[in-house]
This record gives sequence, C-alpha cells and structure tokens, in this order.
Amino acid sequence: MKKILVTGGAGFIGSNFARMLLGRRGARHVVVLDKLTYAGNLENISDLEGRTDFEFIKGDICNVKLLDGILPGTDVIYNFAAETHVDRSIMEAGGFVKTDVVGTYALLQGALKHGVRRFVQISTDEVYGSIARGRFRETDPLLPNSPYSASKAGAEMLVRSFFRTYGLPVVITRSSNNYGPYQHPEKFIPLFVTNAIEGKPLPLYGDGRNVRDWIYVEDNCRAIAIAGEKGVAGEVYNIGAGDEKPNLEIARKIVGLAGADMNLLTLVDDRPGHDRRYAVDTEKIRALGWRKKTDFDEGMRKTVEWYRNNEGWWKAVKEGRFKRYYKRMYGGRLESAAKAGSGAPRASRSGSGAGSAKAAVRAARKGRK
Ligand code: NAD
Ligand code: TYD
Repeated sequence: MKKILVTGGAGFIGSNFARMLLGRRGARHVVVLDKLTYAGNLENISDLEGRTDFEFIKGDICNVKLLDGILPGTDVIYNFAAETHVDRSIMEAGGFVKTDVVGTYALLQGALKHGVRRFVQISTDEVYGSIARGRFRETDPLLPNSPYSASKAGAEMLVRSFFRTYGLPVVITRSSNNYGPYQHPEKFIPLFVTNAIEGKPLPLYGDGRNVRDWIYVEDNCRAIAIAGEKGVAGEVYNIGAGDEKPNLEIARKIVGLAGADMNLLTLVDDRPGHDRRYAVDTEKIRALGWRKKTDFDEGMRKTVEWYRNNEGWWKAVKEGRFKRYYKRMYGGRLESAAKAGSGAPRASRSGSGAGSAKAAVRAARKGRK
C-alpha cells in the first residue's frame, strides 16, 4: 500500500492537497506531518479526521528522531512545510532558515536513509526574483529578494544536491501565488476579503501596481500531483495560471464581490524589497498534461463565497495573536495613510508615480477605471 507523507498538510495548500489525494486521486494512505505553527490549523483537515486511510502527526520536520519513526515504508514525500509569509520574514528570518532550509535538509537525509522513492519539494516562483517583461523559465538563475524566497531557494539547492550527489529521485515545483479556501488571512487575498466583509481598510502596499500571477489552489494541487507522479527526477516544474493582475485590480474586484465600499482601499507604505512582478513560463508542466481548470473570475467568486460561508474559521484565526501581528504590521502605516488623506501613503507622497497611484485609488473609490 502506497504511503504518502504530506508535510505542512494542516496549512493552506497542504490541506487542499491532502484532501485531493484522498478524494479524486484515490490515494490509499496519507500521513500529514505538521508542527501546527500559527499558520497550521487542524480545522483545515477536520473532514479527513477519523478516516482509516488518513493519519495526522503533530511534529517538526527538523526533528530527525521523529522522522526516523515516520519515514520507514514511505513511498513519496510532498514537502509543503515552511514558514511562508514574506512580511514576517522581513520582521524575523531565523524561523524561515530553520524550517525552510534546515527542515528540508532533515527530510532529505531521512528520505535517503529510508529509501523514499520520490521527494517532491514545493517551491515558489519567488526564487527567481522580479521580472519586468517576459516569463521565467526553469533554467533561469535564482535571484531571491526576500528572506522568505532566499530560504526557499536555499532549500531547493539542497534538494538539487541530493539528486546530483546521492541520486535521490527529487522533483521541484515552483508555483505562482495561490488563492482559495483555507488560506491564512495574513496573505493578500484573504486579508482583503475578510477586511472587506468586516468593513476595515484594505492596505495596498506602495502604488498598488505590483503584479502577481494568481492560481486557484486546486489547480496548483493537481499540477503538483502530476509533477510528483509523472515528472522526471531531478527536474524543476514551473506552475502558473497566466492570470497576471496588479494588486489594485484584485482589491477592486474583492470590494465588488464583497459588496463593500471602495473607500476602504488605502495606499500604505510599501514592503521593503517588494518584488514588482512575477511571471513563469509553464510549458514544461503543460507537456505533462496539466491545464488550469479554474479561471480567475470563477476562482475569485468561489473564494469570496467560501470566506463568506466560513466566517467562524477566519474570525477565530483573526483573534488573539493575529491582532497583535496586525497592529505591528499595519497600525503605523494605516495611521500615516489616514493623516495623509485619500489613501496617499507617506512614502509615496514624495516618490515617483505617487500622484498617479493616488489618482488610481481615488478613481477606484469614485467607481471609475
Ligand atoms: P501555510 O503557511 O499556509 O502552511 C504552512 C504549514 O507548514 C503550516 O500548517 C505550518 O504549521 C507548517 N509548518 C511550518 N513549520 C513547520 C515545521 N518546522 N514542521 C512541520 N510543519 C511546519 O503555507 P502555504 O501557503 O500552504 O504554502 C505551502 C508551501 O507552498 C510552502 O512550502 C510555500 O513556500 C509554498 N508556496 C506557497 C505559495 C502560496 O501562494 N501560498 C506559492 C508558491 C509556493
Ligand atoms: P502576499 O499574499 O504576501 O504574497 P507574496 O508577497 O508572497 O507575493 O502578497 C501578494 C501581493 O499583495 C504582494 O505584491 C504584496 C501585496 N500586499 C498588499 O498590498 N497588502 C497587504 O496587506 C499584503 C499582505 C500584500
């Protein structure tokens, strides 16, 4: 019986992935290993609890002894476990290095020792850095700009080295930004959706024109499974839906879908080192037969509906320590924006493009393009 280990399976993508493995992909034995950090949530997998083909283990991927207990008989590892929020990595990067780099190393060692037949490393398009035009290909150099993306790039280098040096059959996926059910409300789309529902300001960094390529989480999960099952050992696969959007456009869409007020849009001081644009070429994963199934408008409708129908889930997450985090991350920025008026951020008042950014937000607030 095939045993599949999903690390980080109580987080956003990992929980969607474990559900998909046991559902449509008919896996026989799925083990989720998760440390349950602030980002991990047993509610995300509560529907899987009690199944005979599913097992949850609370633990750290850095714990070598624990891995020695879990890994014997494991056929495939999907390593989702990571510290994942760029803003938190800017405040404190040590935990990112520990889990994303050292944790991946511990898992790789364990995989080698216990004869795991496939190691799938869930990486990110952020390892390439920012691109002004065109799309990154898998062979492009890695130029990570945040402590988060640097730690993910470090992990990838170790994964690659275990293939080249020891012949461990690894595959790496680099996906673009995900959205959908169970995403922690610290991230852009769920933060804006839940703030819009609550009538709170929507803090857009900088000029609101940074571009991400958004993929519905189930499409990414299917691509990861295909890369795991059919990908060539040692290869990297970009994953993206080609739905490139500036943040301001998404914010406006969210306000519309949530039936909120455009006046909630608020330009705030930018994130340091904020990558301007991400875009990936997905020819390789499509050659394995993958296609996206959910277009952006449909995915956003489903996502906003999910957050509307699951207020208990995100309201509990937004309590307690999240409130302290929110104050630290946004308190000063929102105050400065309020003082400056009309959503004009302190930093951009003197910066280039400040006028047009302000005008774009004002136009959105007045309901014009
Ligand atoms: P998430 O923050 O929602 O979940 C991460 C999970 O890992 C949590 O359940 C957490 O408890 C667990 N975890 C953290 N440290 C751990 C440790 N030391 N041992 C065991 N478990 C630990 O993250 P996500 O958005 O679901 O991302 C999952 C993976 O996908 C990450 O590797 C991330 O880098 C990658 N990724 C995410 C995106 C995205 O848009 N969310 C895009 C590309 C790649
Ligand atoms: P995020 O969800 O943090 O993902 P990443 O930084 O890994 O791409 O952010 C997505 C985009 O949204 C990014 O350009 C930063 C921007 N953003 C805001 O403008 N305001 C916010 O409060 C957050 C969290 C993100």
